[in-house]
Amino acid sequence: MAKTRLVHRCTDCGGVSPRWMGRCPSCGAWSTLVEEPELADPTGWACGQPLVPTSPVPIGQVDVESCGRRSTGISELDRVLGGGLVPGSVTLVGGEPGIGKSTLVLQALASMAEAGARALLVTAEESAPQVRMRADRLGTLAPELHLLADAVLPSVLAHIKVLRPDVVVVDSVQTLFDPDLGSVPGSVTQVRECAHRLVVAAKERSMSVVLVGHVTKEGSLAGPRVLEHVVDTVLAFEGDRHHALRLVRAVKHRFGSTEELGLFEMTDAGLIGVPDPSGLFLADRRPGVAGSVVVPTMEGHRPLLVEVQALVSPSTLAQPRRSAQGLDHGRLTLVLAVLGCRVDLGSANGALGSSDVHASAVGGVRVIEPGADVAVALALVSSISGRPVPGDLVAVGEVGLGGELRQAAQTPRRLAEAARLGFRRAVVPVSAPTPPPGMTLHRAATVTDAMGLTWGNGSC
Ligand code: TYD
Ligand code: MG
Repeated sequence: MAKTRLVHRCTDCGGVSPRWMGRCPSCGAWSTLVEEPELADPTGWACGQPLVPTSPVPIGQVDVESCGRRSTGISELDRVLGGGLVPGSVTLVGGEPGIGKSTLVLQALASMAEAGARALLVTAEESAPQVRMRADRLGTLAPELHLLADAVLPSVLAHIKVLRPDVVVVDSVQTLFDPDLGSVPGSVTQVRECAHRLVVAAKERSMSVVLVGHVTKEGSLAGPRVLEHVVDTVLAFEGDRHHALRLVRAVKHRFGSTEELGLFEMTDAGLIGVPDPSGLFLADRRPGVAGSVVVPTMEGHRPLLVEVQALVSPSTLAQPRRSAQGLDHGRLTLVLAVLGCRVDLGSANGALGSSDVHASAVGGVRVIEPGADVAVALALVSSISGRPVPGDLVAVGEVGLGGELRQAAQTPRRLAEAARLGFRRAVVPVSAPTPPPGMTLHRAATVTDAMGLTWGNGSC
């Protein structure tokens, strides 16, 4: 084999440096350069050359029929993909280990196979019996679903040539390797080159390819970050492992919107779509408890009703605790500062600084948008005063540093969802648009106004 030159490649961005440096010259990350063999680009892909020879055509004559999407048979996944997988496209599904990626791709592949597609699952991590046992448990033994337990890329490509599948899933892209590349499986070179070759195969054969990739919370594992440029679609599979809820969102999508959100619940029978997430989030809510407020929040295009809770308790610590679970810590601090300085809470103004404050969004969902500010403020005041917020009331709006309320984006959609779930009143900023039928708006200019409208003037 010809002697290969060594380069230093960043595990974060894939940038290359001829010598080792403490900091990557491309992305600025520290201690991410690792020594790897330099490679000629075998596909010409990185130089922007077309994969299949083609000639210019007037835009109106470009064939879009061949781009017909293939439904995955899982409606929540189709929603995020804009209808299904596009032939010739490559989709990366990234997520933390154990979140449910293998389960999701197996379910999707099985239902595509049942619908008549020739499907191949390349399992480079688990053995074929392991996958079969999972499929047995999920009740998804589709005859057109083929399993290949192999991690060597040339052999995988050879099998693809023979089987001619319509859709291929590789689980996971980090365990796939090409022995000719000379670096260890999972290295940036291996992951990127293997993905490149699968992209070429996908385009040549018009087959849909799905790559599964692990990412840690810090996104530090080689792979998904460097692959984002190579693939057409990047799906992030998120969720709190302590909760059953799983969210799928498109981070990048060349064939549609990145605003859609898919919601699943992890059950004994695998992942089940959640068509009515607001109902799920509010199922265990106990109205009449102080410190709880429902906020109509937006996840992409999708309105979700989420319960925000707060507990303010005397602290025994020199530096009182501030905890925000599923909420933005910075916004909690801001709301506390506004309550301390701009709102008359009587004796509680002084006590707030020496109290522990716990605030959370219930159900394992993350509500980090400013639109939840006024709900957090009301939950805090409710906890301090011990007075519950009325059960038929929601609150939405951003809190400014002057204590004023500002409108959150897409307020009408949020209020419509609240009305659908039986809420009758909403605390909103003064500029809020006309409410949906059956919903009364309490327009508040400031947090103090919002408190007055929630509990009646002077009652808190
Ligand atoms: P898995 O799909 O293997 O996750 P990943 O591929 O992202 O690493 O599944 C992760 C977890 O899901 C595992 O701990 C078991 C659980 N699980 C269920 O709760 N129900 C099921 O039906 C399946 C298949 C898995
Ligand atoms: Mg897995």
